[in-house]
Amino acid sequence: MEKLVVEGGARLRGSVPVSGSKNSSLPILAATLLTRERCVIRRVPDLSDTNYMLQILSKLGAHVERASGTVTVEAGDIHPEAPYDLVRRMRASICVMGPLTGRLHRASVSLPGGCVIGDRPIDLHLMGLRAIGATVEVAGGDIKIEAPDGLHGAEVNLRGKHGTTVLGTDNLIMAAVLAKGTTVIEGAAAEPEVVDLADFLNSMGARIEGAGTGRITIRGVEELHGTEHTVIPDRIEAGTFMLAGAIAGDEVTVQRARPDHLVAVTEALRRCGFTVAENGDALTVVGCGEPISGELTTEPYPGFPTDMQAQMCALFATTHGTSTVRETIFPQRFMHIAEMKRMGAHADVSGSTAVIHGVPRLSGAPVMASDLRASAALVLAGLSAEGETEVNRLYHIDRGYEHIDEKLAMLGARLRRVKV
Ligand code: EPZ
Repeated sequence: MEKLVVEGGARLRGSVPVSGSKNSSLPILAATLLTRERCVIRRVPDLSDTNYMLQILSKLGAHVERASGTVTVEAGDIHPEAPYDLVRRMRASICVMGPLTGRLHRASVSLPGGCVIGDRPIDLHLMGLRAIGATVEVAGGDIKIEAPDGLHGAEVNLRGKHGTTVLGTDNLIMAAVLAKGTTVIEGAAAEPEVVDLADFLNSMGARIEGAGTGRITIRGVEELHGTEHTVIPDRIEAGTFMLAGAIAGDEVTVQRARPDHLVAVTEALRRCGFTVAENGDALTVVGCGEPISGELTTEPYPGFPTDMQAQMCALFATTHGTSTVRETIFPQRFMHIAEMKRMGAHADVSGSTAVIHGVPRLSGAPVMASDLRASAALVLAGLSAEGETEVNRLYHIDRGYEHIDEKLAMLGARLRRVKV
């Protein structure tokens, strides 16, 4: 096990390159199961989550090679069973369900386990597969899907009580690309990662229209072929470094980003009084003397992302005045608040809302990472805290941030990874 020791107080300055998107890479890697032919995917970040996905693909029978950021997958003969010991380590492994059902007309995938960011049901994923003709049974911890007569296009509304579902939309798209007839998804997730998956599938010969809107149309094709694709930049990693710049920076630039995917984050920072300058694929956040407190509500894209909520809480923790953060996607996703309180933050959570009264400075403390984004927020809080912050259970961060310690060090942060 490792921890990250962050020495607070160094002012950050400089540029940092953004890696390829984790949340795009995972479904795109799963989608390679839809063809026997070779797929080459570039800019896949080197993370434990992408490594788990590659392990799952090879256990399913695919031939997988990885050379730095380029992954080659050839899924010649595959089988439809993804057992618990494979899927338990990563909830996103659920996204092999769609491609296995699409290509083999059957799948057996273990139910993913619990998750600290709250209840994460998969009812909408299953509803989507049922709507296009699959029978789905959940028994003994496994989801068993069968469609002996093949899949048939249908109209499906995937909107749930917390809004749209990203991986649920991905799963249905991946199952429907090889179905007979046309599938229309209403209430589809419009996140850039869904668009990236649709672009990848279209480059394999799929016929998907409307990705990036709430209505996606998929016209089934007979088969898909191999392709090459470059994954989009990780907007959450980029946003996290922008927040590092806001919390502890004089001037921090994220490079190789997609500013158009970061509009909600940029606007939130501007409302807090920061200058954010855009230059091609780069965004620069300029520190501001006295940030302004505010209100923030998470929403599906293009709204403010839940995956950036914890990092904004770290900013508000030392922003003069009272800020209110409302989480509408995962109402219980506030584990970081309890840890920030250990660092001296004044905050309370009531239901799905956190009220944060900014203090002039946090103080370093040993804290426990709970999930990926909460951990990142604790590192950000530590950057400007007085003294040393020890972020334990670093494996949470390594799930989703490629070399975060090295990248922060490039900006002048003082931090070290320590084995415990
Ligand atoms: C994706 O998870 C991301 N993961 C999450 O990022 C992200 O927080 C989330 O989308 C929301 O943007 C990946 O892309 C791998 P959802 P996903 O289905 O697709 C409810 C990170 O830190 N829901 O869009 O699993 C659900 O409970 C991770 O990188 C149902 O009710 O999330 C939630 O309230 C964490 N039934 C809402 O929908 C379902 O069947 C949105 O979840 C599915 C979801």
